[in-house]
Amino acid sequence: MPTARDPVITTANPQALAQFQARLDQPPQPNTHLQTTMRTSTPLPPWPYPRWIAHRGAGKLAPENTLAAFRLGAHYGYRMAECDVKLSADGVPFLLHDDDLARTTNAATATAKEYASNMPFPHASRAQAAPDLIANTADLAAGHWPWAALSLLDAGSWHSRSYAGEPLATLAGIAAFCLANGHALNIEIKPTPGDEAHTGTVVAQHAARLWHGVACPPLLSSFAVEAVQAAHAAAPHLPRALLLDTLWDGWLDAAQAMDCVAVVCNYRLCDAALVQTVHRAGMRALCYTVNDADAAHALLALGLDGLITDRVDYFSPLF
Ligand code: G3P
Ligand code: MG
Repeated sequence: MPTARDPVITTANPQALAQFQARLDQPPQPNTHLQTTMRTSTPLPPWPYPRWIAHRGAGKLAPENTLAAFRLGAHYGYRMAECDVKLSADGVPFLLHDDDLARTTNAATATAKEYASNMPFPHASRAQAAPDLIANTADLAAGHWPWAALSLLDAGSWHSRSYAGEPLATLAGIAAFCLANGHALNIEIKPTPGDEAHTGTVVAQHAARLWHGVACPPLLSSFAVEAVQAAHAAAPHLPRALLLDTLWDGWLDAAQAMDCVAVVCNYRLCDAALVQTVHRAGMRALCYTVNDADAAHALLALGLDGLITDRVDYFSPLF
């Protein structure tokens, strides 16, 4: 099997790919990574997930966090993807990275058009829950929109004409795709600000139902400690990870207190000491978002358990 010192296999490196395939037929070699982990004070949890993970479905090659992106990532051979999940105003878990709808949907245009024609879109149902929002036609906060309105938006045209009309995806729709194809999923819980614990609870409950009895459950992660805590309480059997953009005071204790199986760090934070610290604490170490070969080489040499990338067209997920 490949070792961390092997070249990163990319579509631009067919020789490395051929060497990798040839080695698959050889008898097993001593696994230096395993030898390292055997010295840890706490055993590492089982890890059924592929090493390479497609960020937001297929990185930047398709409209992020849509089913189209998942299909494209799968087309490039990826068997695990990461996605961002938040709640609609009426509690439907759906995929969106930003707090608002401006960048990746046509919400601003759709809202203006519907107001111009005096039609109650999308505010009719919002009116019952939050009358003060009705007057604000510029309110594009995704968490203020009911799913009935979100589901009508175009989440593909912003990317390119070929994806025009692509809808926002629900967690249930993505679960159906992953389960039908045997793909793994990293659900990043991305709450609307102020809704952290509620989002963690609801997303974990939906994930537990959607993946009930499945051998490889989704990995739930979040930068928001309250969301991870709530997911822990709601579905303790689902694996969790703490996301870190900085190494804030107490991150390791927090991850352990929530029984996290992994820590997912900004790759710029990763060095040998950090990976060793995470492994010795009995957790897997993953990183995001790795898009160039030099960084990938260095990270693999550190023994990272997972790399999240936008470059599904460049990194072969075989390695
Ligand atoms: O889950 C890893 C990564 O997606 C976190 O950053 O901002 O791309 O969601 P972001
Ligand atoms: Mg994310």
